[in-house]
Amino acid sequence: MSAFLRRRNPLRPVVLCAATVGLGIMLGGCERPPMDAVQTGYRGIGLAEVINPRLDAAKYSVNQLPVALPAAPADGPLASTVYQNIRVLKDLNVAQFTRVMLAITQWVAPPDQSCNYCHGANMASDDKYTKVVARRMIEMTRHINSDWTSHVAQTGVTCYTCHRGNAVPRNVWFTNAGQSGTTGLIAGNAGKNSPTTVAGLSALPYDPYTPFLLGDKNIRVIANDALPGGDHSSIKQTDYTYALMISMSQALGVNCVYCHNSRSFAVWDASTPKRTTAWYGIRMARDLNNNYLVPLTATFPQHRLGVLGDVAKVNCATCHQGVFKPLYGESLAKDYPELVGAMHAVAASSAPSAPADAVPVGRLYFDVDKSAKWVEGEDSLQSVVDYLKAHDTAKVSISGYHDPSGDVAHNLQLAKARAIVVRKALVSDGIAPDRVSLDKPMETTGTGDPRDARRVEVTVQQ
Ligand code: HEC
Ligand code: HEC
Ligand code: HEC
Ligand code: HEC
Repeated sequence: MSAFLRRRNPLRPVVLCAATVGLGIMLGGCERPPMDAVQTGYRGIGLAEVINPRLDAAKYSVNQLPVALPAAPADGPLASTVYQNIRVLKDLNVAQFTRVMLAITQWVAPPDQSCNYCHGANMASDDKYTKVVARRMIEMTRHINSDWTSHVAQTGVTCYTCHRGNAVPRNVWFTNAGQSGTTGLIAGNAGKNSPTTVAGLSALPYDPYTPFLLGDKNIRVIANDALPGGDHSSIKQTDYTYALMISMSQALGVNCVYCHNSRSFAVWDASTPKRTTAWYGIRMARDLNNNYLVPLTATFPQHRLGVLGDVAKVNCATCHQGVFKPLYGESLAKDYPELVGAMHAVAASSAPSAPADAVPVGRLYFDVDKSAKWVEGEDSLQSVVDYLKAHDTAKVSISGYHDPSGDVAHNLQLAKARAIVVRKALVSDGIAPDRVSLDKPMETTGTGDPRDARRVEVTVQQ
């Protein structure tokens, strides 16, 4: 019977073939199987990670640790006493210093250039821009490992985390200038409607990095109440948030539910702890871009800059390279204590000291959900009071912060109540009320780990 039909319908293979091509086009944007899923939450709530073993195998090969060099002996003269122009690695002895030079050559310099990539005939000279950049990168790496443990934990990073043997890390970003000459009805399309790999080939904005990983625009867009009120965001703002979220998911090779519970994307209590780590990651990327990379703009040659003349910057993919923890959470930093922090105390004369009349900053720390009285920081407040008494034209600005967990509206109240308590203390210490102003910061969620985040800052305005 079927043989009879096939003879009667000579067009059938053509139809089948067209259907296959059509299906192929439709599925063109999808990943080729096999797919696998791992349940990460209670049954029935859709918390599952979708994994593609084929793509995972490729990621696995780029996320392997290189072999660490043998540890250096702890004794011997400091490199800064032997060499002429050591400005950062002053705390290392000669053996440790040499070990760092060998390691960074292996991790960053093109193999055919070796030490010459950063040095000319005179090793002490700063003629090559790569050496100047590398010096700042060493400071940045130490800063990440010692001040951003809220994100990188004890795993830490080395130059290899970003560079992986390349002079320019594989994943960097520049501000996207967009299409030029758009006029009329489509002018000002907010970076939309041109499919972008940044946001998973969607038509969402193609540059979510400039507002969020360079600027500190608000990422949270979901309103706290159903009625029209002051806390509503536009569709445009929401588009930017989604573009960032897609790019973060791609950078880590995970789904949205790795960090969120799909029943509510906003609520922290229902989110996984990874969301908090990611929250710190966003602040860390901002810090690295603004305080390390942007100030190096003039140091880089023109051909390393973007079309708008901006420096190459860091995003989640710079370190993560497709996996949930860079290098699957293996630590190379533990084998390079030289890049984690100071190894030896450096003689006081060479360490910079605070000027005698330094302007103090008050930092008062509070317990979880408390605002009646701080638990730490009294001394810093006392130095502000002393300063104000000695400088009678100086004024202070007080800003309150909270940690990232809990309800947003409640946290705003908490941050304000904390600021008010500190203001009262200053006034009762004899500072005139008109010299003390309360200022709500742009971003009330404090930086640093949650203990540091729950604070009030008192800054002197000259
Ligand atoms: C990626 C850039 C880079 C590479 C590659 C590199 N260095 Fe360095 N080197 C630096 C930086 C940065 C300093 C200064 C460190 C500081 O100020 O603390 C430095 C300083 C030095 C100094 C001290 C010079 C002086 O008198 O002040 C010596 C010696 C040195 N490097 C040797 C080497 C050797 C040998 C190699 C190859 C195995 C090498 N470096 C590869 C960046 C590099
Ligand atoms: C968080 C990621 C990150 C880490 C960690 C990092 N770098 Fe970089 N590095 C960058 C970015 C981004 C650039 C800018 C890319 C460019 O050169 O245009 C860069 C550029 C450089 C350059 C200039 C390259 C060139 O040819 O223009 C040197 C040299 C360098 N890094 C050395 C180091 C060294 C040495 C370390 C470790 C002590 C290090 N980096 C750690 C992200 C990183
Ligand atoms: C690696 C963790 C992570 C992943 C993956 C992730 N998010 Fe987020 N998401 C966050 C963090 C952190 C914030 C809060 C950012 C802030 O406040 O600075 C956030 C905020 C949001 C918000 C705003 C919530 C509010 O309160 O207004 C939405 C909506 C959102 N994410 C959607 C998504 C979607 C959709 C995906 C998948 C495409 C996704 N997220 C993937 C970490 C993640
Ligand atoms: C300087 C390198 C670096 C950058 C940039 C970076 N991360 Fe990470 N991230 C790490 C390291 C290292 C770890 C591993 C920490 C650990 O072992 O707990 C990590 C861990 C995480 C985790 C925890 C994963 C888990 O399974 O517990 C999340 C989530 C995360 N990062 C999200 C982000 C997001 C989102 C961004 C961009 C906004 C980002 N990271 C940028 C280095 C980085």
